[in-house]
Amino acid sequence: MLLVVIALVVAFVSFVYWKIKHEEHNNKVFEIYSQPGILFYAKFLIFYLLLKLYELNKHKKENLEDFDRLLPLSEHNKAFDAVSFQAVNPEGHYLYGGIERRHLAKINGFFYLVTPEFGLLRSPHIPKTNLDADTDMLHDMKSYNGGGIRFSPIKPMKLWRLSYNGKMLDQNENSVDVVVEADWNSNLPCFMFDSDMSRVAIARAAAAETWTEDFFKNIKKAHQSHYEQMGYLKGFFSINGKKYEIKMDASRNHSFGHKRDWLLMHRYIFHFIYLEDNTRICVGVLSHPCTTSHMEVGYVISPKKAINPIEKCDLRLYQHGENGTPGKNIAFRIWTRKKEYLIKAKTIYENNHFIGNDCEARIVFKCVDFEVNGMKGRGFAEWQYNNQNFL
Ligand SMILES: *[C@@H]1O[C@H](CO)[C@@H](O)[C@H](O)[C@H]1NC(C)=O
Repeated sequence: MLLVVIALVVAFVSFVYWKIKHEEHNNKVFEIYSQPGILFYAKFLIFYLLLKLYELNKHKKENLEDFDRLLPLSEHNKAFDAVSFQAVNPEGHYLYGGIERRHLAKINGFFYLVTPEFGLLRSPHIPKTNLDADTDMLHDMKSYNGGGIRFSPIKPMKLWRLSYNGKMLDQNENSVDVVVEADWNSNLPCFMFDSDMSRVAIARAAAAETWTEDFFKNIKKAHQSHYEQMGYLKGFFSINGKKYEIKMDASRNHSFGHKRDWLLMHRYIFHFIYLEDNTRICVGVLSHPCTTSHMEVGYVISPKKAINPIEKCDLRLYQHGENGTPGKNIAFRIWTRKKEYLIKAKTIYENNHFIGNDCEARIVFKCVDFEVNGMKGRGFAEWQYNNQNFL
């Protein structure tokens, strides 16, 4: 009897072991995207409990106000400190810009402006974004500044000033003179990706991966801080002397950390959505194969300003534009704990630019018309491709 039991246990254990070994080699789509294996639910549960345990032991949330400004760069040569802004309004204006500070007085900077009259305008160095930082940024560290783009923190988490001053190019390569001056402000909640992301989504992503020593090491190493805040943009822009007053729905984000290595990111797709009923959605699907080859992130802000993390998104990167060319239209579903949303996105304009010190990442930037559960809206999409894998 005992022998039979032992034999059965040994057989079972070796079967599971064989299954796991077997899956490790065979469960990746395009050798990148891990698929849930036989132990998926057990791993999910373990990881979920680990996250909860970690949360209990953590001290209280960092005070974001201390970080809402230019931060010192770490000593790593891929140290970074990046802010971005975006805004839309019902008149069909779209504004999108960012600056990433790097060592050696360099930045990655880009700025887009769209009006129905002029179409898509871009800062003139795009598709390249490597620029010299302005000297006053290096001296007084008061604003992210270079290539005519400037973002200045005035009151942490409340008020930032944004400006552009210089030439921009339209889609026929004609040059126009552009001035933008606007204030970004907010009374909306902030989303800190570390602490506010859905634990269910993180555990699901981790459970699909092979748990090697490297996996856990890389999770620790790859850490970056990222927060995002929805708000409003108010001010004006002028194109060739013609002035437009603007009041726009907007958001901004800030990322920083020891280092940012774009080569480790295989792909991502982000959608930023502003609906007519004031619902706002930010949803991303990322593939960072040395940690999680498929991760769903994001949140929904309801018209009443309640914020809910996204627990699930059915968009799969390998089903959309894995060859490097995004489709124009896409539809997918997301779920928060409260609600399900069917998102339909139609590209209105798109343009490519490169980021990273050596153009390691290509971004396909899109202005998008949305329909979510029947409600209309506008916003953006951003499709990132690893420029080394896709060259
Ligand atoms: C931050 O926002 C900018 C544009 O506003 C966008 O390019 C970037 O992908 C965002 N980053 C994340 C991680 O959401």
